[in-house]
Formats: sequence, structure tokens, C-alpha cells
Amino acid sequence: MLHGRSLSNLNLFPIMSSCLLHPRCILLAALAFLCVWAIFGPSGLRKELSFTPPMPAPAAPAPPLSLPHLLIPNVGACRSSGSQPFLLILVSTAPEHQEQRDAIRASWGALREIHGHLVRTLFILGEPDDSRWENIKEVLRWEAQVEGDIVQAAFTDSYRNLTLKTLSGLAWAARYCPNVHYVLKTDDDVYINVPGLVAELDKREKDLQQRDPNRDRTVQGEAKAGERESEQPTRRPPAVPHLYLGHVHWRVYPSRLKGSRHQVSEVQWPSERGAFPPYGSGTGYVLSAPVLRLILRAAGAVPLIPVEDIFVGVIAKRVGVAPTHNSRIAGAARYPIDRCCFGRILLTSHHMEPWEMKSAWELVRGSSGNGDKPLCSWLQETLGMLRCWMLNWWYF
Ligand SMILES: *[C@@H]1O[C@H](CO)[C@@H](O)[C@H](O)[C@H]1NC(C)=O
Repeated sequence: MLHGRSLSNLNLFPIMSSCLLHPRCILLAALAFLCVWAIFGPSGLRKELSFTPPMPAPAAPAPPLSLPHLLIPNVGACRSSGSQPFLLILVSTAPEHQEQRDAIRASWGALREIHGHLVRTLFILGEPDDSRWENIKEVLRWEAQVEGDIVQAAFTDSYRNLTLKTLSGLAWAARYCPNVHYVLKTDDDVYINVPGLVAELDKREKDLQQRDPNRDRTVQGEAKAGERESEQPTRRPPAVPHLYLGHVHWRVYPSRLKGSRHQVSEVQWPSERGAFPPYGSGTGYVLSAPVLRLILRAAGAVPLIPVEDIFVGVIAKRVGVAPTHNSRIAGAARYPIDRCCFGRILLTSHHMEPWEMKSAWELVRGSSGNGDKPLCSWLQETLGMLRCWMLNWWYF
């Protein structure tokens, strides 16, 4: 009982108030807070959290997807560089957005290789609405021929057809880029920190491979200890993790607002199902190759919800893949153009006008082209996401 009494007699208030008088104590408290922030805060060591546990894989096979055929199939786009890319970036764009496409081509879209990992950026679009755009078909065909980075499918390009656009792009990737490790789906007003994203994905793959060989060794060891095995070690395909990475939205309920771009009907998502499963914001989410295949296989079983990122989240849940949140993927937030945030901390950044895309690129790359100035000072680097959030709050 002595313990209980001494604990209940322990009054924290005088301790805390006397602490405030000592600078060293304040410093210690601040340090402790920083440590807690670094470990548990959203910007720190645990940059991401997976909030939903993986679900068991579904049983019912889905009917095959019937997707619009390709008008500009660009079947060789993935092979043109010899070997297949590590990362394929699918940029969802509209036929009339040539300025946005050119800004991407002149900025981050020009990057083709990061530390030996090939990167390919392609634009995916539908058919222009004939009544409004008379000559755009010709211009588009010309652009596709000159740039070689356009895939066009036969559906009317409209906001409510975005799910069809994403599915067409993903199906293209699975078919014509079969050895790609990761696919990033993004939009033409998003700045992508390509080196940062490749490094992030590469790190995850290395982590997986480091865990994998050990398991292999024990399996082989057990086989040797047991009976004579005719099995010989076969060359294993590269271990690509199951990954659905993005800026995750939780507990989003369907909008029933008539005429809204995000309207989801009662048939597409009945009210009794409640909120949508968590999904990665359509401004930028990564699907690894195994997840891409799972999603395409199951897509035919789900009503075509016209909001593409929610649609992908719904199928992901169906196939038992939980999205992984990464706060460096900015989602819909807009950030002021800042060398450190754009070049190092953020992986994606939304709401970029074509000129902003180019000026961000110039800033990150350094106007001399060889980027001799460091991207971040040590303080900026230490503050990381926290500083980018503060800038965002300060400017917008
Ligand atoms: C989507 O594309 C199809 C095929 O071109 C078209 O029939 C349909 O009207 C489009 N939907 C919208 C909402 O634009």
C-alpha cells in the first residue's frame, strides 16, 4: 500500500511548474517532444502507416473486363529503351491539354533513368468531343507521332469517364509493359519528384529482398537435410512487394449530389455499405506489378464507380490489398514552390500550372543544370514534412 500512497501523493503540477523555471529542463522536455514526434508524428521515422489489416483474398472470380479498344496503341513505348522500366508513370490527361503535357515533357517527364532504374512517362487519354474540337484529332495524331508517349483509347474523354481512362492505362501497362515493377497513376497537373519516388520504391524492394534470401536459405537447408531433392534452385523473378502506396483517404462517404463530378449512384455504391474503403488519392498512387494484376483481374466484378481513385480502392479491398499511406505523397494539397520540398521531401505535388511545373523543375535542378546547390539545408531536411506543411499553411 506504500507504493499506492506515494504515487497518489505525487502531485505532478509543482514538478512541471518548477521545470518551467529551468532552461535545461525545458530543453529536455522539448527534446523528448521531438523524439516522440519523430517516432509517432506523421512526418517522422514512421512516414507511413497501414491502417487496415489485409483482408483474405476473394473467392469469386470476376467476369473479364471489357475495355474500349486502343486508337493509338503505342505498343512499343515500353520497350523502346531496350530493357523494361522499373517505374511506369501513367499521366491521365485530356486531348486538349497539350500545354500541360509539354510542361511535363520539359520537366520531370524528361527523366529516363535514376541510378540504373529505367523510368517511362506516358500520357493516357480518350477521344475528344467532336463538336467542340474540330482539328484536335489531327493535332493529337501528329503529337503522338512526334513524341511517342501517348496512348489513346476509344471512349469519350470526359470527367465522368476517368475510371475508364485509368483502367485503359492500367490494362495497357499489364499487357505491353509486363516486366515493369511499379506503375504510378497521376494527373497532368501534378509535379512528380521522380528520383525521390524511385528511391522510395527501391528501398522497399531492397528491404523485401533482404528478408527473402534468409527464408530461401532455410528452405534449401531443410531440403538438404531431408531426402534427396531433384529440385534445383531456379532463377526467381525479382521480388516485387505487394504495394498500393498513396495519400490515403479514410471514411469517405459517397456524394449523391446530382450533377456533381463525384456523384456515385445508389446502384454503384448502396448506402448500407457505408463509407468507401480507404483509397489512395488519384493525384498519385503507386501499384506494384502483382497488385496491378490482382486489380485488373477483379475489376470486372465491381460496378464502374465513376470516381477512379475510389474505384481502385474498392477493388483493392476486394482482392485483400490495403493501401499504404505516405505523407510525402501530397494528395490534393497545394504547396508553394520550394527547392527542398519539391526536390527532396514531397514525392508528388498537386495544382501545378504548366509554367509552375517548369519553374519548379528549374529550381530543383538548379539553373546551371548540374544542381551543385544542395536541395535542403540540414535544418530544412530535419524539419522535413513539418516545414512543407508550415509553408503550405503560411501561403495558402
Ligand atoms: C464515356 O465513353 C463512352 C464511350 O465513348 C460514351 O458512350 C459515354 O457517353 C461516355 N460517358 C460520359 C459520361 O462522357
